Amino acid sequence: MMIFTRKATLQYRIQAMLIILLVLGSSISWAQENGADGLGDVLYPQLGNDGYDVQHYTIDLDFTPEENFIAGATSIDAIARQNLAAFNLDLFGLEVAAVAVNDAAAAFERVGSELVITPSAPLAEGEHFSARVEYSGTPEPINDPSAPDFLGWRAYPDGYFAAVSQPSGAMNWFPSNNHPLDKASFTFRITAPPPNTVVANGILSDVIENADGSRTFVWEAADPMATYLTLIAIGDLAEVRDDSGAVPIRSYFPSFVDPATISTVVPGYGLMQDMMTWLSDMLGDYPFEAYGAVVIPPFPGALETQTLSIFGLPAFTEEVMMHELAHQWFGNSVTVAQWKDIWLHEGFATYLMALWAGERAGAAAYDSTIASYHADSSAVLMAPADAEISQLFEWTLYARGALVLHALRQEVGDDAFFAILRSFHESYAYSAATTSDFIAVAETVSGQDLDELFDAWLYSEEVPDLP
Ligand code: ARG
Ligand code: ZN
Repeated sequence: MMIFTRKATLQYRIQAMLIILLVLGSSISWAQENGADGLGDVLYPQLGNDGYDVQHYTIDLDFTPEENFIAGATSIDAIARQNLAAFNLDLFGLEVAAVAVNDAAAAFERVGSELVITPSAPLAEGEHFSARVEYSGTPEPINDPSAPDFLGWRAYPDGYFAAVSQPSGAMNWFPSNNHPLDKASFTFRITAPPPNTVVANGILSDVIENADGSRTFVWEAADPMATYLTLIAIGDLAEVRDDSGAVPIRSYFPSFVDPATISTVVPGYGLMQDMMTWLSDMLGDYPFEAYGAVVIPPFPGALETQTLSIFGLPAFTEEVMMHELAHQWFGNSVTVAQWKDIWLHEGFATYLMALWAGERAGAAAYDSTIASYHADSSAVLMAPADAEISQLFEWTLYARGALVLHALRQEVGDDAFFAILRSFHESYAYSAATTSDFIAVAETVSGQDLDELFDAWLYSEEVPDLP
């Protein structure tokens, strides 16, 4: 240092300083400017990405049923939450042909289910930007230990296709920030040959007849939505509308079904308006622009896909219809911030099934439903607030989660209990919440210290006796 100072001219010193600053500056910025490849989910550390916030997805795909092949592009409009030299989207399988950021070609790399994008110019914190990914391929099944049934986009028997994704499957058909902490609005433009109809979330805004005979179905989902709640269902489907209530209800059935007979075969279907009114009166207004059911007969189970729940034929029952509708409030509007908090979805929707049983058939039906949940609860020992990945969608968790709410209601009384449900929804609508957020609402609204109750019902493996 001494030698340096003596020899250095002023010019030399300035040059040396500049080099040091440059080296320091760039190493600091490199460390900070790559968006993280996860959002800190304890069960799914790789799902979602940090550093940006998606505002809108536009998913534009051509579909070829013979090969179950999709080709097209997904664009995101997003806001950088930090300076970004590079950022990630989640994408599993498929072939990426090109990526552009703000309409300029961008470099990209595939690392497992991460698509790492390096824009030609770095993005500044606060900047609005677009990213467009062109891709094609046959979607591949996601291997997710919580969800052997819902693998993202897949073919079903009898010419049906559906993309149903809880919790991780969305990344097998579009690149995304694949975690409920980043909700966005969506445009779907899906082209399919006849006789197929394509349904998705939100409002069908256009059906374009193309020169080759195919049709492009344009769906707009304006309300914030988590990626796992996106839905595509494709088949020879026909719409049945019911605009008699406050919320437009449109459902889709195989076109061979005679709409006049649906309520005879499935009495629950005729109750959808009543369920909607009953839940809205109890929980606050229905949070979305439309509702309905799409029935894909060979689909295994049901899911509360936002604004349009999907059902396989065996699951299209009154009980499951109530369950999926209840999820529109608890699950879709208020969504878990961590997948391990899933009892906030499943416990709530399952508890509302017991309340509906009581509404339909009297107090004894509520009591016997709760008793059956209690009997089912001992099947697997688990603390509902501490589920393992393989237990997220097990019935035991649903039943135990519902009992948390039953026990809470016994403790605080009906007025406080229903005020808690409404306040929890109102406080976290269109957003994400944790178990502690719920506990805080319950304690504030009831004015009671509920530690002991939640320790016993939420955090302990042993099942307490029914209160
Ligand atoms: N959330 C769905 C429901 O309760 C069940 C989904 C079960 N499977 C899954 N992979 N998420 O209706
Ligand atoms: Zn559920």
